[in-house]
Amino acid sequence: MKVTVGVCGGIAAYKAAELVRALQQQALDVHVVMTRSAEEFVRPLTFAALTGHKVITSLWGAEDNAPPNIDSAIEHIAEAQSTDVLVVAPATADTLAKFAHGLADDFLSTLYLATTAPVVVAPAMNVNMWQHPATQANLKILDQRGVRIVEPDSGYLACGMVGSGRLAETGQIVQAVLQSLHRRHDLARETVLVTAGGTREAIDPVRFLGNRSSGRMGYSIAEAAERRGARVILVSGPTSLTPPARCEVIRVTTAAQMRDAVMQHLPQATIVIKSAAVADYRARMVAENKLKRSGPLTLELEPTEDILREVAERRNPGTLVVGFAAETENVIEHGRGKLQRKGVDAIVINDVSREGVGFDADRNAATFLTEQTAIDLPEMTKREMADRILDEALALRRPRRMIAEFESSPAKVRS
Ligand SMILES: Cc1cc2nc3c(=O)[nH]c(=O)nc-3n(C[C@H](O)[C@H](O)[C@H](O)COP(=O)(O)O)c2cc1C
Repeated sequence: MKVTVGVCGGIAAYKAAELVRALQQQALDVHVVMTRSAEEFVRPLTFAALTGHKVITSLWGAEDNAPPNIDSAIEHIAEAQSTDVLVVAPATADTLAKFAHGLADDFLSTLYLATTAPVVVAPAMNVNMWQHPATQANLKILDQRGVRIVEPDSGYLACGMVGSGRLAETGQIVQAVLQSLHRRHDLARETVLVTAGGTREAIDPVRFLGNRSSGRMGYSIAEAAERRGARVILVSGPTSLTPPARCEVIRVTTAAQMRDAVMQHLPQATIVIKSAAVADYRARMVAENKLKRSGPLTLELEPTEDILREVAERRNPGTLVVGFAAETENVIEHGRGKLQRKGVDAIVINDVSREGVGFDADRNAATFLTEQTAIDLPEMTKREMADRILDEALALRRPRRMIAEFESSPAKVRS
């Protein structure tokens, strides 16, 4: 497996040498690309000696004064196609901005645009540069695009300040690279049916009962599954989000429409992730004309379809079903109750009483609950959470596969 390490012009550039060694210890073939500024901090020779490969420093050939030749001109495309993961460490504020906005004025930024391999960035910079809204906005763009961000540590910085901005530990960056490699194409044989967003139940022609779900969690799951090679069917309630490019989108408004769309596509699904916040109740009667204000109003409600239970009952053998639960109290206890009532493989429980996570937020914190385990998914971006949920869902299948393999080949067990 080939890993391309991009080194930018920051104080932490020297730490990239340690990263290169650590990646090589994982039996990875490491190649290095340096920005012009990075060369002010470390000599390319260091990386050439460590890797045994030429270090790429320019779009225009090895020597600054040499005339460009066609080999060097297409080198970024060859590198983009041959690498299995691009990891940029340290990633400067400047290079993050170029990545976020699609600038391609040096080899590394051109490589970023040209590659379809997973990208990991490990930023390092002064605390004010890190906290600047411009840097944070760029990181948000990259996060939503599926770039894996290994957040910097807090502590004493080279500039003399104390705060966030120190390059993450080498081990953490290596782990992110290995995870990205592992996740690449691991859903290639799966059809993932994802539901996202809230539903709306009409009261009259202009009003509805709804909820605060933005759809971001479900859209992140759809994007992650698609990036990992799955065919994705996204059943979406009303939202302003843009769906991933290749997934099949079915737009619905009400719980009943969501139920119909899910049931229609269920036979094709090998994994179902029901992250939509579906209304539990709808108005028994929808007023034909807009309701006028005239004293107290009582709405009579009736329960909507229990889509999750129906999915669990009617799924194909082997299809995994993961539900979501938003709880505000006794979250584990209520989650376990739902797991058993619905007959699903796992429930992702969000504690929506917590500030800044869950509904209508970019970050989430949850527990992935199965009958035997409660896996803590601490606060992280919804993009990263999407990958973790898919990892845990796939892990549920592994033991079953092993059992099935043993059962189908008893000779193996005897020997
Ligand atoms: C001594 C020195 C240290 C620097 N350290 C950092 C740093 O740690 N992080 C950062 O984002 N920029 C840092 N910079 C600024 C970058 O070098 C500058 O933005 C440069 O344009 C980055 O180019 P690149 O992104 O192409 O590597 C530093 C600059 C100097 C002169």
